[in-house]
Amino acid sequence: MYSQKEINELLEQTSLFIKNSEDKHYIELNITQLRNVLKFHEYNYYVLNNALINDYEYDFLFKLLADTEKNNEHLITQDSPTQRVGSSLNEGFATVQHLVPMLSLDNSYEAADLLDFDRKVKEGSNLPTIEYCIEPKFDGASISLIYENDILVRATTRGNGVEGDDITNNIKQIRSIPLSAPFSKYGIQQIEIRGEVIMTKAAFHQYNESLIQQGLPTVANPRNTAAGSLRIKNPQEIAARNLDAFLYHVSYLQTNNNTHITTTHAEQLAMLWDCGFRSTEKEKVVVKNIQEVINYVSAFEEKRDNLPYEIDGMVIKVNNLALQDKLGITSHHPRWAIAYKFKARQATTTLIAVEFQVGRTGAVTPVAKLTPVFIGGVTVSSISIHNEDYIKEKDLKIGDTVLIERAGDVIPQIVKSIIDKRNGTEQSIVFPTKCPVCNNTLYKEDEEAVWRCINIECTAQVVEKIIHFASKDAMDIKNLGEANIRKFYTLNLLKDIPEIYKIDFTKIVTLEGFGKKSITNLQTAIEASKQQPLYRLIYGLGIRFVGETTAKTLANSVEHLLDFQHKTIEELQQLEDVGIKVAKSIQQFFSNASNIHMLQELAQLGVQLKNLKKETVQSHELAEQSFLFTGTLTKLKRSDAEALVEQYGGKIVSSVSAKLNYLVVGADAGSKLEKAKKINSIKIISEEEFLKLIG
Ligand code: IVH
Repeated sequence: MYSQKEINELLEQTSLFIKNSEDKHYIELNITQLRNVLKFHEYNYYVLNNALINDYEYDFLFKLLADTEKNNEHLITQDSPTQRVGSSLNEGFATVQHLVPMLSLDNSYEAADLLDFDRKVKEGSNLPTIEYCIEPKFDGASISLIYENDILVRATTRGNGVEGDDITNNIKQIRSIPLSAPFSKYGIQQIEIRGEVIMTKAAFHQYNESLIQQGLPTVANPRNTAAGSLRIKNPQEIAARNLDAFLYHVSYLQTNNNTHITTTHAEQLAMLWDCGFRSTEKEKVVVKNIQEVINYVSAFEEKRDNLPYEIDGMVIKVNNLALQDKLGITSHHPRWAIAYKFKARQATTTLIAVEFQVGRTGAVTPVAKLTPVFIGGVTVSSISIHNEDYIKEKDLKIGDTVLIERAGDVIPQIVKSIIDKRNGTEQSIVFPTKCPVCNNTLYKEDEEAVWRCINIECTAQVVEKIIHFASKDAMDIKNLGEANIRKFYTLNLLKDIPEIYKIDFTKIVTLEGFGKKSITNLQTAIEASKQQPLYRLIYGLGIRFVGETTAKTLANSVEHLLDFQHKTIEELQQLEDVGIKVAKSIQQFFSNASNIHMLQELAQLGVQLKNLKKETVQSHELAEQSFLFTGTLTKLKRSDAEALVEQYGGKIVSSVSAKLNYLVVGADAGSKLEKAKKINSIKIISEEEFLKLIG
């Protein structure tokens, strides 16, 4: 897209705009260039995943452009980066016709189906072997984009294939989709491009974490969230979901001299890439014949879970465009392409019962018990069905045949009840009015979907709180897992969190299954947990809406945990990502006398309540440095290595970009290492070097 010379120029202009930001005349005079600079940085960040400036600099330049345009409305252009920020809500979506019907794909499941497809292609073309292009089959929502004279004029959902909804405003929120693209250099006047809007696994988890922090119900999987986002009313809400898009097909093309500018599908992907799109250029492979297709797709299935996004198969396309034309289409799918679907991660089974579990916040969660079924490599026998509203919405009944899905690292879920299979014996799921553990009356707040047991002495809550406190992401007390905690609790050996540090080991020795060694291990782990970093303790306290990220923010903001006793809701809200709901919950926790008493007791028992990081970290070499681990580490567990970085004030990032300071490389490192090698500023170090670095 950009030559090295252009890159150098754009970087130089970036500095000039920052330097001359006070000079209104200069900015107005060079506003087109400023827009180009912003587009260039959007492209690097969102398409190449390789930021060349930091967020602060980008936001600064963006504001500079927005302010200049505000004062000079005549200078605004349709493709200005500021025009993504649609302020108006969508009032329904107009139905529009696609330039070319959006067809589906024929499916294949095994090598024999692919051989059959190849045979038909050969028959239709009279060629002995066919060259194919293979791409991932993205599991998202398909869209079509139209650019006229280089400007994005319309974006549409698939709809019924002939007409879809005009979702242009919403699509403009996806920053990897350019608002303008230099198609004119190829002589293209109008082009229709197809692609898939997806949510990466990372964006999905981040979005769910933000929902948890706002006390909202989480979303079930990336595909539905991406699809649902397209028709959302408020475009700004889409921006917050960090959607992505891959473009994989040119469905219509009009040039000013009617010449063919590309002869293969792979060339079209390259052209789209060159025009600034995240096309499947970097994901595709071109192979010589169907046997190579079969080898490639079966090997790729293994890699599926390592990708940063969900795919449900591969798409195989005849590479030659003239041959595609010759083969043509049926009313349902093109004859020149086929989807190869990976093994189903869906299965049907029976919902045999519903159990109600009480969590550490008192929330009562219904859990569907299923006839065990094997999907995606694991046996599933129970699935959370979230809350009463969810049960109603999905119309679930005991005795129903249900469709279950397990996609990648997303937890299993019930897709739907298969109503046609009902025979009248199914029973409604009745939500209890009393706590299934302590029998106290359950309550539900107006705006909440969840019923809660508010008895803080409810056994279930107490045990769940201890389990959470000792868990891996909290105080990480090895050997004090769920089973042991339940056992100790029932035997009256562990009744609340502080008692972890007062366990009478002479009694544990007498228990079956506890040898000398396991007791020593347990003692050591409990002792070691006293010095865990403050954020782990905060997270372990299980304060409502305080996840790991918020716990880190909170820990960094104080010298001592009990400082929170004196913080007002307003002060708490000043912290990053702490909204009113979270702030209230924190304030409530620290104004409760028994909570303070518990913390004081923990301190007396030797648990560290001070923020040691604040005292030691600033001077450490790792402070403020960003790290990413790739490949298999041999000396440390990945999570321990990451914890060490954070303990010394460093940050863990999830992808390779110019913002990364250190890439720590273990065995069998893959694409992250390759990518990092291209960015000079990243220090690539081994696990040993990392250990030396932290001293
Ligand atoms: S090509 C005319 N390529 O799968 C052919 N489709 O099940 C247009 N999909 O409707 C489709 N990844 O939404 C193509 N690399 C890819 C794809 C892909 C996902 C979707 C697309 C299509 C559906 C068919």
